Amino acid sequence: MVSLANITKIYNDGTRRELRVLDGLDLELGSGESVAVMGRSGSGKTTLMNIIGLLDTPSSGTYSLDGKNCADMSESRQAATRCRFVGMLLQDFALIEHDTALNNVMLPLFFSRSSFREMKKTALRAMDRVGVEHLSSQRVATLSGGEKQRVALARALVVSPKLLVADEPTGALDYATGVQIMGLLREINDQGVTLILVTHDSTVASACKKVVTLKDGKLYDYKDS
Ligand SMILES: Nc1ncnc2c1ncn2[C@@H]1O[C@H](COP(=O)(O)OP(=O)(O)OP(=O)(O)O)[C@@H](O)[C@H]1O
Ligand SMILES: [Mg+2]
Repeated sequence: MVSLANITKIYNDGTRRELRVLDGLDLELGSGESVAVMGRSGSGKTTLMNIIGLLDTPSSGTYSLDGKNCADMSESRQAATRCRFVGMLLQDFALIEHDTALNNVMLPLFFSRSSFREMKKTALRAMDRVGVEHLSSQRVATLSGGEKQRVALARALVVSPKLLVADEPTGALDYATGVQIMGLLREINDQGVTLILVTHDSTVASACKKVVTLKDGKLYDYKDS
């Protein structure tokens, strides 16, 4: 499903501020599996999630998603793959605050060819799946943190992704709300969606079948680090 081989990511390449964030990183993740990535602040976790979510490209190395080499895809093909295939959950939710919850969830569907009516139905179904259908007409700015994360999760799920990438999905939430969000992520993973998440919390990490640490640009089994 996700295959990273000898990935490097160098920021400010060739300058005095050159920073080698990822350095020969490998990761193999089969369909339906789950992995938690831990590691200190600045170790490159978000950089890695952005590469996996096709929001950024590695400096070198091979990234294959569902058996296809991403470097061989045109930019528009990558964008289409990202839209159809990958759900992203970002630490700061990345929702449009002044718009309604429903419009936020519908957004990824505007790239599809469905009718407005169909898009609305699909969006409401995704919201129902994570328990926020009743908030559909509420403006995002007026939602609680936990509700925002559920709306963000509905938006990630609305395209029925095969891969869900979550960068600190509970980082901005209180403990109890975090537990609820993790319960949802586990449920989604149990339904066959491959899950990769970043967390600083070992309890959150333990919801995944595999836990790794990002250190010196590479991934290590958590127990070894
Ligand atoms: N676009 C960029 N240009 C230059 N440096 C960058 C860029 N993006 C990230 N960095 C640097 O790369 C390093 C890794 O950043 P990254 O955001 O991946 O860390 P992280 O592990 O997600 O940290 P945190 O746990 O604090 O979220 C940091 O030192 C950061 O300053
Ligand atoms: Mg980060």
